[in-house]
Amino acid sequence: MKREESDPVVAIDGPAGSGKSTTARALAKSLDWTYLDTGAIYRTLGWLAVREGVSLDDENSLVALCPRLETLSFRWGEDGSLRVFLGDVDVTRAIRGEEAGRWASDVSRHPGVRQALLDLQRSFTRKGPLIAEGRDTGTVVFPKARWKFFLTASLEERARRRLREMGLEETPQSLETIKRAIRERDLQDSTRTVAPLMKARDAIEVDTTGLSPEEVVEFIRRLMKEG
Ligand code: DC
Repeated sequence: MKREESDPVVAIDGPAGSGKSTTARALAKSLDWTYLDTGAIYRTLGWLAVREGVSLDDENSLVALCPRLETLSFRWGEDGSLRVFLGDVDVTRAIRGEEAGRWASDVSRHPGVRQALLDLQRSFTRKGPLIAEGRDTGTVVFPKARWKFFLTASLEERARRRLREMGLEETPQSLETIKRAIRERDLQDSTRTVAPLMKARDAIEVDTTGLSPEEVVEFIRRLMKEG
């Protein structure tokens, strides 16, 4: 694709714990670009559904909840962390755990839900150049993104990172539990019929195993400069 036909978007996709969020956030901050965590949208929908007693299998009722996500916003906290708000409610903590990840994976299987959330995700480009992260940002949401990356890492490392992210202690047992949860979520995300987790044909794959967050960001920035 010619550069002028592409959109000023960096699409960063990959499975849970591949380093997407850390990389995308650091990039957004250092470039002062808008940041979109598409997983947070699905997580918030899952959380809202559970709170309202809507079954995660009930596609029509889930679609009916989607307009409520239009008030979702991302704000940087004073300590540099990212806060997710639904209207005035800070949902950051509520949506971060592995359980909320599973709810997100469940609601995101439904074609109607994915369709209903497309415009919301695309509307973030109105604010300027964008760093978007998720599962299908390079394939479906922003197919014309100028830069596309697909991050991977070994299951072991991804599980360790998730434990750290959630502030949980690493024990052989907790590591096994989180590995199982990640494996199940990967399987569901990559085998669903609509917009499954997969690398876009024109995405650059980056194996982040053994790399520090700084090294990943540096690598991506270098590739972005090159074109
Ligand atoms: O990136 P995450 O762990 O916050 O995502 C949570 C779930 O949301 C993930 O398991 C599948 C779903 N998701 C999706 O289907 N499409 C996206 N673009 C982002 C997330």
